[in-house]
Amino acid sequence: MKVVISQDFDARKRADLLIVPYWEGPKAASQTEVRSPGISALLDSGDFKGKHGETALLYPEERQETRLVLLGLGKKNESDPERLRRAFSAAAKAAQSKKAKDIHLLFPECHSVRGVFEGIFLTDYAYTELKGDSLKDSPVLFERLTVFDLDKKFQNEIDRLQETASAVHFIRDLVNGNADDVTPERFVKEAKAMATKGLQITILDRKRLEKEGVGLLVAVGQGARYEPAMILAEYKGAPKSKEHILLVGKGITFDTGGLCLKPPDNMLSMKSDMAGAATVLAAVKLAAAFGLKVNVTAIAPVAENAIGSRSYKLGDVYRSVSGKTVEIMNTDAEGRLILADAIAYGVKHLRPTSIVDLGTLTGAIVIALGEEISGLFTNSEAIAKDLQSASASTGENIWRMPLFDYKESLRSDIADIANVGGRDAGSMKCALFIQEFTGGVPWAHIDMAGPGFISKPKHYNPTKGTGWGLRLLIDFLQLQAGK
Ligand code: BES
Ligand code: ZN
Ligand code: ZN
Repeated sequence: MKVVISQDFDARKRADLLIVPYWEGPKAASQTEVRSPGISALLDSGDFKGKHGETALLYPEERQETRLVLLGLGKKNESDPERLRRAFSAAAKAAQSKKAKDIHLLFPECHSVRGVFEGIFLTDYAYTELKGDSLKDSPVLFERLTVFDLDKKFQNEIDRLQETASAVHFIRDLVNGNADDVTPERFVKEAKAMATKGLQITILDRKRLEKEGVGLLVAVGQGARYEPAMILAEYKGAPKSKEHILLVGKGITFDTGGLCLKPPDNMLSMKSDMAGAATVLAAVKLAAAFGLKVNVTAIAPVAENAIGSRSYKLGDVYRSVSGKTVEIMNTDAEGRLILADAIAYGVKHLRPTSIVDLGTLTGAIVIALGEEISGLFTNSEAIAKDLQSASASTGENIWRMPLFDYKESLRSDIADIANVGGRDAGSMKCALFIQEFTGGVPWAHIDMAGPGFISKPKHYNPTKGTGWGLRLLIDFLQLQAGK
């Protein structure tokens, strides 16, 4: 979609639809009314009050646009970026429902360019790759958005928001894609395509992983016909700084549960178990594209957790690159194994000063927090503060969970540690397991099993893959860049 700011509303060309935002409250307070005399009958009728997210479709005569969508923004004094995102998502959906491609927008009196455009850009998405006959019923995407009543100086910010939204769409595509297409090999291909002057990509294939002793990742991947791999994407945007952030994302391209096979209902969504890996790779790619002044490396351990004669075994013990041995008490707790190994590899070879890992780790976090909130576990107040502040700006909700001393439950008789410790406090025990591999580096763990893949559309997120967490990580990196 091409987005342009125009100063000349009166000289505008024809378009499919005009979005006219409207603050709830006394009519006189609205600037848009002056611009759109056609709407006064509707306002006088009292049928449209400007409630948050309310839309009304009009077909005024003698306008440049075929249709007009009046959009309620709610009360101005209650407004924030997230409310703007949701309201403009409603306008975008109204436009989509009429298959409008060429959109005009009167920018509202508000303080958040970000809220307005993220609402539109994040809604302007459809996953159509796997459609056949029904492709014609899919939403059409916008081709052109012309914005009026906005200073031209915001063009750069808009371009950046658009690039960020494209990265969100890239993650959604990977999450929604068939697990037989989005394999570890596909991740390697996508990563190689990301390489630019400032972004160094390194691939560790299975042989190399064995040589380096990354035994947990190799074990998890050994049952599948697709070989596991570890992808490193390094960006040094602050060469003089000693700070080095490690982002590690879970990349299970399909999670059958392994020999501890999942029941069908639970397996149905497991093509999404690689969302964390896609997110960290996209984050570093954007950090490089934006030239953020941070040093950051993404590590994406990628593997399929398959069931078969070569699957890793329950009760067997496997060795991590950290040297720690792990007794497998449940082959379905595979995410923590590959994250632990990737973190241990990063700690050993890259000497990071902080670590953030994320992935779709536990069903227990979905029970606790639902589909709209991820769990945050951390031993660093500084990282907690920045992640929480980033979360407040992006609308990607996180809730801090305790890291209570339940480590005893992960005790193993024959190895250094077991990979699970009972069903109770399941998400916390997963975090505690991973913490054992962080080598004392300040660390945060985000369990995004809820928001990574959702069962019904919610505001600007479509059903299934959401691209959750990318904007959060970018905002987090930006906060580190400002230090
Ligand atoms: N990938 C799943 C977690 C998951 C569940 C993600 C629901 C998204 C939605 C993970 O690998 C898993 O199976 N975890 C187990 C851990 C248990 C065996 C300790 C779980 O949550 O049941
Ligand atoms: Zn699992
Ligand atoms: Zn999993």
